[in-house]
Amino acid sequence: MLKNRKITVAVTGGIAAYKACEVVRGLVKLGADVRVAMTENATRFVGPVTFEALSGHPVATTEWEHTPEGAMPHIELNLHADLLLVVPATANILAKAARGIADDLVSALILAHRSKVAFVPAMNCHMWRNPATQRNVEDLKRDGAHFIGPDSGFQACGDTGEGRMTEPADILDLLPGLFSEKPLSGRRVLMTVGPTYEPIDDVRGITNRSSGRQGFALARAARDLGADVTVVAGPVTVKRPAGVRIVPVTTAREMLGAVEGELDRSPYDLFIGVAAVADWRVADRLEGKWKKDAGLPQLRLVENPDILAAVGHRAGGPVTIGFAAEASDLLENAYAKLEKKGAAMIVANVARDALASDTNRVLVVTDGEVDEIGPADKDEVARKILYHAVDLLEEEYGPEDDL
Ligand code: CTP
Repeated sequence: MLKNRKITVAVTGGIAAYKACEVVRGLVKLGADVRVAMTENATRFVGPVTFEALSGHPVATTEWEHTPEGAMPHIELNLHADLLLVVPATANILAKAARGIADDLVSALILAHRSKVAFVPAMNCHMWRNPATQRNVEDLKRDGAHFIGPDSGFQACGDTGEGRMTEPADILDLLPGLFSEKPLSGRRVLMTVGPTYEPIDDVRGITNRSSGRQGFALARAARDLGADVTVVAGPVTVKRPAGVRIVPVTTAREMLGAVEGELDRSPYDLFIGVAAVADWRVADRLEGKWKKDAGLPQLRLVENPDILAAVGHRAGGPVTIGFAAEASDLLENAYAKLEKKGAAMIVANVARDALASDTNRVLVVTDGEVDEIGPADKDEVARKILYHAVDLLEEEYGPEDDL
């Protein structure tokens, strides 16, 4: 989504300016064409040469020098932008932007913007909480500006609270959503992701090779398409999506409990079961660590609850989508699972292709049709699966406008 996007990064004068270096580096790595402008104060924290090296272009620090093409920087840099990203955005620049003040390069750049503009605030928690700042943020939002963060946590000044700049990796995760249409806006999506872990004793257990990557890619795609997303996640180590609520669990029974708890609390429009739930657990979990001297443990396995089927057959439950990881007979198994799980759609793949891989190839199977997606990277597969979900939701609840 960010490949070949023209992004002007405006850096203002806060200690978080050093983190803007990582944002610029990440954007360039993702294929964006990045230009950088800095306030004079920002140059006290990080030298323009750093941004010049990272972006591969000269850095603008004043409106008094024309670009090599002879244009004024605040016009030229806007002409070249699909997005103006102000990172970090100080309380001062938010105040100036909200009032239309243009007394230096960056504030003039913001006033003259024609593209999307997004602010990534970073400031002391008392400055952030100040009603003046909150008023400015509200005004800017009303005028159509986007905001990423701020987060809460330890601050450079020693305080702890809201105002900390969102981490660069999360900013990069959230930016593609600014360019996405929002057919899932107003929809609530609940998902299960990752493996489950069923303990045998205190140190050993039954699990599987699911990485959670496809599930998190789906969560990101649903978030970018405008949904409010909650993920009940088994033990996963891959990076979690930003802007998505995560409920961590370990076992299948905990996963079912968390899913039912969510559905009991408030209605969801869509449930997607991506988790590779362990089919069995040990009936009598062993205490402590089983010693080899004690001989071979006699393990009796019992079946775990089927979470997808429980949701699919729930009266008044959400539209339900399941996954089917198969060794063979994809279509036949997918049709059988549609029925057995009470699902509106089954996404079937060859288990070997999907596990611990960045790419996937799937068949999307509903009552009426079969569509093939991929092989493609898991993000693209996720987006295409969700467009099928948009159709299902429209069939079930009517178009988005009726929300
Ligand atoms: N699933 C679930 N709870 C289980 C088992 C599976 O919610 N206890 C969900 C998965 O998240 C997936 C779908 O059911 O969306 C199918 O999972 P899969 O492992 O392919 O099928 P199983 O039902 O386990 O059947 P089998 O192993 O016999 O193919």
